[in-house]
Amino acid sequence: MDENIESVLHEERVFPPPEDFVKKARITPERYKQLKQQADEDYEGFWAERAREEIDWETPFNITLDRSEAPHYHWFSDGRLNVSYNCLDRHLSERGDKTAIIFEGEPGDIQKYTYKELHAAVSQFANALKAQGIGKGDRVVIYMPMVPEAVIAMQACARVGAIHSVVFGGFSAEALKDRVNDAQAKMIITADGGHRGGRIIELKAAVDKAIEHGTPTVERVIVFERTKHGVAMSPERDITWAEAIADQPMECEPEWVDAEHPLFLLYTSGSTGKPKGIQHACGGYLLGAILTNKWVFDLQDEDVFWCTADVGWITGHTYTAYGPLAVGAAQVMYEGAPTVPDGGRFWKVCQDHGVSVFYTAPTAIRALMKLGDEIPKSYDLSKLRLLGSVGEPINPEAWMWYYRVIGQERCPITDTWWQTETGAHMIAPIPGAVPTKPGSCTLPLPGIMADVVDEHGEPIQDANHGGYLVIKEPWPSMLRTVWGNDERYRKTYWDMFDGRYYLSGDSARKDEDGYFWIMGRIDDVLNVSGHRLGTMEIESALVAHERVAEAAVVGRPHDVKGEAIVAYVILKEARPTGAAADEVAKTLRAWVAEEIGPIAKPDEIRFVEGLPKTRSGKIMRRLLRTIAKGETISSDTSTLENEEIIKQLQGKA
Ligand code: PRX
Repeated sequence: MDENIESVLHEERVFPPPEDFVKKARITPERYKQLKQQADEDYEGFWAERAREEIDWETPFNITLDRSEAPHYHWFSDGRLNVSYNCLDRHLSERGDKTAIIFEGEPGDIQKYTYKELHAAVSQFANALKAQGIGKGDRVVIYMPMVPEAVIAMQACARVGAIHSVVFGGFSAEALKDRVNDAQAKMIITADGGHRGGRIIELKAAVDKAIEHGTPTVERVIVFERTKHGVAMSPERDITWAEAIADQPMECEPEWVDAEHPLFLLYTSGSTGKPKGIQHACGGYLLGAILTNKWVFDLQDEDVFWCTADVGWITGHTYTAYGPLAVGAAQVMYEGAPTVPDGGRFWKVCQDHGVSVFYTAPTAIRALMKLGDEIPKSYDLSKLRLLGSVGEPINPEAWMWYYRVIGQERCPITDTWWQTETGAHMIAPIPGAVPTKPGSCTLPLPGIMADVVDEHGEPIQDANHGGYLVIKEPWPSMLRTVWGNDERYRKTYWDMFDGRYYLSGDSARKDEDGYFWIMGRIDDVLNVSGHRLGTMEIESALVAHERVAEAAVVGRPHDVKGEAIVAYVILKEARPTGAAADEVAKTLRAWVAEEIGPIAKPDEIRFVEGLPKTRSGKIMRRLLRTIAKGETISSDTSTLENEEIIKQLQGKA
């Protein structure tokens, strides 16, 4: 195993759960102990009991876990349910008039939905979907800004048994096209545009371009008019959201489906050039979403929850579109950027809507921390009682700032480790029960059998010794497969340890107290501002440009984004230098934005005449990473023809 995996981080501070917090917490230390013990002693019984307590089943299940097709595990498979029913209908009698969503647009417009109103809107849109020929099992791509209609569209799909695939609005037309085609989607739901960073994101134009470039399965496009800036509509194919719902009733009987029926696909990057459609199942996913919103976020009736993630990511699925609704919480949705009109926007939203539980990414925390303490101090953040972090390791410095300045030393911080594939939090402190340490995601949740093992799958016994982070037992909210590619599913997640353990792709260490510290990816996946990007994906985008002969992409540490993207490029023409190099770099950056999206734009492009390769022709990425970091090269570079190329790689020639 990579020697880099040896950890150098040492953090001694421990923060026990605050007494006031424990008093009101859903999960007290005693309850936590009981749950852990039950999960250890009777794994399936533990999950069966949770699933019976938390979900309203149309047909109760008898089979808890079916291992017969492992590693395609099936949970609660003879039960039937509807996820949208569990998120909406079941709250109507008790909290129909409670606020479900408080939406704030980037321009400052505010819109609220009670549970009753949301139920009506979802039912009406579900009827619209049916009227447009969408039914059980059909795939629907959702490409929308962060507006309530995005959640309504997702919930409506769930209501009729359709399988949604949300594509982040920051992805380009090309990326959208690939995802639409892989899922063979029949419909795209989009908006004219969205407000972000003071500009309009041209969503409909991107949809038009994707379709123009070939999406043979798409029959219909529904366009929500958010920005109203006037977009082209194709009369045969496109209808507005308003037209689609006109005359549709606000009652819609949910489609009861098997627990294993797919709820959604969500494409995520891996170590090949092609993103994979992570497939989640209704029953198990819903259970994970409910439990973690209760356990980790401690969501209670009087809370106002805000998860800042976009619905285009798994975080926006589990902690906006499904989980908070399934537990009957009130939540904020914000459309725009954290710095519009200034760096106080997040704190103003917290203040104005009385946010009590706040969940964001380390990259946002670090960016806002850089702006100083005065900005957050000028807002009333006294309602906050719990803070969360997700998406990448949070460095102790950012953790302490979050704790001190935002949480005012009153709010526990829950650093949640999980993945698109896991569906819900896996390793995270339950805030009323588990003491925290800055930089550690602490302990696996009850029922999650996480461990750190060596390359033979043997648990690592020594404290603070790095290894592979694995999950040793299937869990309900796990992915079921990679859409249309069972082989890739088995290869990526199960083959390394002969089907025994789920391989997360992360490395981690456990300290003396058994606390987990995530150390980074073991594959060619980057984490840029909490967004997962495959280096091969960026490389294939680069080589798709007519002037590029070869490209290699690696990450380099970045103090705000976590990782920055460095691309080494060999052109088909002579190697450019000076202003000519800047010009080509600009062209290639714009090209990558077109091919994937602005998030994948390389921060730096170095033009070279050769790349270091092994004898078998594999690019030596480890060496490239060392060079990108500006560290001295200790490994063998004899495959490079000359010293000059080393200098080029170092950006010194
Ligand atoms: O490397 C881990 C990192 O993000 C990866 C999962 O990315 P994605 O599927 O896009 O989901 C992001 C939101 C869950 C993981 O393999 N990661 C996520 N959370 C943490 C983290 N790394 C360290 N600490 C975390 N809390």
